[in-house]
Amino acid sequence: MKTYLVTGGAGFIGSNFVLYMLKKHKDIKIVNVDKLTYAGNLENLKEIEGDERHVFVQADICDREAISKLFAEYDFDYVINFAAESHVDRSIKNPEIFVDTNVGGTVNMLQCAKNAWAEGEGFKAGKKYLQVSTDEVYGSLGDDGFFMETTPLCPHSPYSASKASADMFVMAFHDTYGFPVNITRCSNNYGPYQFPEKLIPLIINNAKQKKALPVYGDGMNVRDWLYVEDHCKAIDMVAENGRDGEVYNVGGHNERPNIFIVKKIIESLAGKYDKTIDESLIKYVEDRKGHDRRYGIDPQKIKDELGWYPETPFEKGIELTIDWYLANTEWMERVTSGAYQNYYADMYKGK
Ligand code: NAD
Ligand code: DAU
Repeated sequence: MKTYLVTGGAGFIGSNFVLYMLKKHKDIKIVNVDKLTYAGNLENLKEIEGDERHVFVQADICDREAISKLFAEYDFDYVINFAAESHVDRSIKNPEIFVDTNVGGTVNMLQCAKNAWAEGEGFKAGKKYLQVSTDEVYGSLGDDGFFMETTPLCPHSPYSASKASADMFVMAFHDTYGFPVNITRCSNNYGPYQFPEKLIPLIINNAKQKKALPVYGDGMNVRDWLYVEDHCKAIDMVAENGRDGEVYNVGGHNERPNIFIVKKIIESLAGKYDKTIDESLIKYVEDRKGHDRRYGIDPQKIKDELGWYPETPFEKGIELTIDWYLANTEWMERVTSGAYQNYYADMYKGK
């Protein structure tokens, strides 16, 4: 039986990963460590309540004592580090917490794993640390070309700078100590349980309430969207078969300008929810500072080496996502009450 230490497993991608893994693999154990920040939500894990293969621990990845204690208690085969501050707009307002969690937390996780897995001059066999990173570390593309694993890191936002820095520590541990690692760098995810500060759930939620739909700048910034389950599958495959010390880009060649995404959601909701939802709700607002223009992933390496491919086409994934939010109104109401209202008022004031 393989034992996983998953961090950030109550957040959007982390919870989807935990659910995916427990469905896919019968004989595994997952210890799920999450601080439960505004973005972490135990409701995301309701489906696996009572499943003895899953143990939830509320802890901060920066907490040396708490994380070392877990390594003393369990013989982990894999560490999958999802935990992070993940929202670019928040990083522009308050960068410090991004350094603490994304850089400091990653180094703490690396140190704890390195100490626990040490054996002789090297490390116990079969162990791996997988850092869940992002295509944003590469910076921004012009009209042509794609991010490859060899593309130099050129982050622009405080968020992407913190993720790039974490990636460099991961590689430094590999190069200095021979510590077993992989890094995955995925494009924009969408799907169930995404917190409505991010474009897709925010637009769905606002449109349902006939609130303005804020589109930054000219709406022509391009993101490369991947259904979250396809990302989870990639992480599982890299953990299992990724070559030691390698980076794998993950993306499905699904580039869309933001305004296309917004119009698509309007069209879908008008068809299946409320026919009075229309494009008059769109409001072009002040652009994000330092807004990266275009992301686009070249996923050839993970396809060639590991046989990964995306299974959910965008047209299907976006409908599955909209249907999930329509069916989970209580989830949305709970996560948008309280602190979210203050966040939204502050973030979009004057916009
Ligand atoms: P999220 O914000 O939805 O979830 C982050 C989770 O981490 C939350 O459950 C939160 O409580 C937890 N967390 C935050 N700080 C913590 C700390 N100090 N200790 C323990 N737990 C902590 O983020 P997400 O969108 O699910 O992203 C997960 C990971 O995937 C991040 O590392 C992110 O950089 C990366 N990523 C995200 C995307 C995307 O499109 N969302 C794409 C590529 C990579
Ligand atoms: O590319 C991977 C990254 O994708 C991840 O590393 C990040 O954790 C994740 O948050 C996401 O970053 P983005 O900044 O691309 O995602 P976001 O949903 O915030 O924005 C998507 C695009 O939509 C971006 O060009 C900004 C724009 N946008 C966003 C919001 C919230 C708007 O036009 N209006 C909005 O209100």
